[in-house]
Amino acid sequence: MKNFTSFADAGDYQALLNKALEIKQNPFGYQHIGRNKTVGLIFFNPSLRTRLSSVKAAYNLGAQAWVLNAGADSWTLEMADGAVMNGSTQEHIKDAIAVMSQYCDVLGVRTFPTLTDRDEDYEERTFNKILQYATVPVISLESATRHPLQSFADLITVAEFKRTERVKVVLTWAPHVRALPQCVPNSFAEWFSEVEWVDFVITHPEGYELDERFTKGARIEYDQRKALEGADFVQAKNWSSFHDYGQVLGNDPAWMLTPAHMALTNDAKFLHCLPVRRNVEVSDAVLDAPGSLIIEEAGNRVFSMQTVLHELLK
Ligand code: CP
Repeated sequence: MKNFTSFADAGDYQALLNKALEIKQNPFGYQHIGRNKTVGLIFFNPSLRTRLSSVKAAYNLGAQAWVLNAGADSWTLEMADGAVMNGSTQEHIKDAIAVMSQYCDVLGVRTFPTLTDRDEDYEERTFNKILQYATVPVISLESATRHPLQSFADLITVAEFKRTERVKVVLTWAPHVRALPQCVPNSFAEWFSEVEWVDFVITHPEGYELDERFTKGARIEYDQRKALEGADFVQAKNWSSFHDYGQVLGNDPAWMLTPAHMALTNDAKFLHCLPVRRNVEVSDAVLDAPGSLIIEEAGNRVFSMQTVLHELLK
């Protein structure tokens, strides 16, 4: 593994999953790999889970971590190549990333989409600049189009809690009060459509179709109730339109997950990447039910990151 930015970088996903489950059993067993190593973490947007789980993962592996909130903690960064920097930006991303690479052995970076310029977002122009200028391995802590550490943590959680060899996993769109990126559902689709022991179904209202480069022929079911029938795992998430880029086309509250929805499933375990808008996306009764794995899922963010760090530093 040279960088970790997508499912493709995971290589043999089953081997990586097995390593994560092994590391979780013995979290401090590879401290020799992280000794005298530094993990740099740069956030262009807010985070709770990614930031804290990444620091914990580095600690478990015997490494040190530093965190920089770009723009807030640092100079205001210029992204444009060839810019005449006589305005408000104070340091070019080219210099900042190259310098930060001097201060760490692996660099985790979170960027977000514009949600207004689809080409800019889906070409990953910001993240690709970081890959271009970094001189150490780079981990995506979420980019304009993907959140691979989240999907890897979701896979760990499903593997831990599955009760049968094959499982049906449903990704359902859920209402929200804001326009949100497609990164989490894109990555979830990219990962789970490849897992051999998963029957993967995506359900959303018409108009919320994801980019087919991520769904890769996965079954799309517009009838949420039909999609949920027999599900072993349900992952809920809001996203804005890909085709009508960044727009909220409708917010039907009937799509909010309630116990009535979960009653259609095979006593499914419930997943959400968090943060969640309670009683908008998902009802309290689902989030707080015994079958809800939202806290376990967030806990597994430590082990997805720790496993990736292990692979990059070993
Ligand atoms: N799921 C997730 O990435 O959470 P944060 O945005 O809080 O890091």
